Amino acid sequence: MDMTPKRWNNTCEYLDAVFGQEDQHLHDLMPGAIENGVPDIAVSPSVGRMLRVLLKMIDAKTVVEVGTLAGYSTTWMARALPEDGMVYAIEPNELHARIAREGFERAGIAHKVTVIEETGLDALPHLLSDLGDGAVDAVFLDAIKSEYPDYFPASKRLLRKGGLLIADNALGGGDWWIDDPDGHNLDRDGAAALNDLITRDEDFDAFCVPIREGVAVGMKV
Ligand SMILES: C[S@@+](CC[C@H](N)C(=O)[O-])C[C@H]1O[C@@H](n2cnc3c(N)ncnc32)[C@H](O)[C@@H]1O
Repeated sequence: MDMTPKRWNNTCEYLDAVFGQEDQHLHDLMPGAIENGVPDIAVSPSVGRMLRVLLKMIDAKTVVEVGTLAGYSTTWMARALPEDGMVYAIEPNELHARIAREGFERAGIAHKVTVIEETGLDALPHLLSDLGDGAVDAVFLDAIKSEYPDYFPASKRLLRKGGLLIADNALGGGDWWIDDPDGHNLDRDGAAALNDLITRDEDFDAFCVPIREGVAVGMKV
């Protein structure tokens, strides 16, 4: 069910065309992955570019991504990092992880990405014990929306002061929108709960960019 007004879809297409310009690698990445059985659920090009700019703005070096798919968003983010930077890319699906790794090799960024084949709920505590509190510049959440609030405690601890917690689908997903009533869709309720957490937690200063399905950005202050 598409609840998005036509003019908003047209606006997002405009944003992708003007603000989301991709090089050939990024342009070909998702079509190639889809041919190999990966679902067509990556962020849009303009969200990818926004991720890259946000990471550059905070001089990010270490990033955690929960939900990597074929590595489209990961590639935008890895390109924002210095040569000794690292994206810890959490992706439990074997096919997605393999295709993502192949893409990182082709893009020449494999040295800047560590793919972790675990669920977000398993990998985040592991990363916390391996890297320590405050070791991460940004966490990008794009996995199971109903689990978003459960990703929050470890993500908060991983982030340094000034680091960013970024969450895709802050306003909607394939079959839900944020103004649906509570209690009918677990993904909607999870996204809404994370929006509440980052806007009410005194350690975060947050805003939401209503691009495509909404991207929430909370800075740890
Ligand atoms: C929306 S896609 C991610 C898209 C990607 N961030 C991009 O924009 O290119 C969600 C991904 O989360 C993965 N996933 C599923 N269950 C997960 C879990 N429990 N923890 C982490 N990732 C999970 C799926 O396999 C899928 O690849």
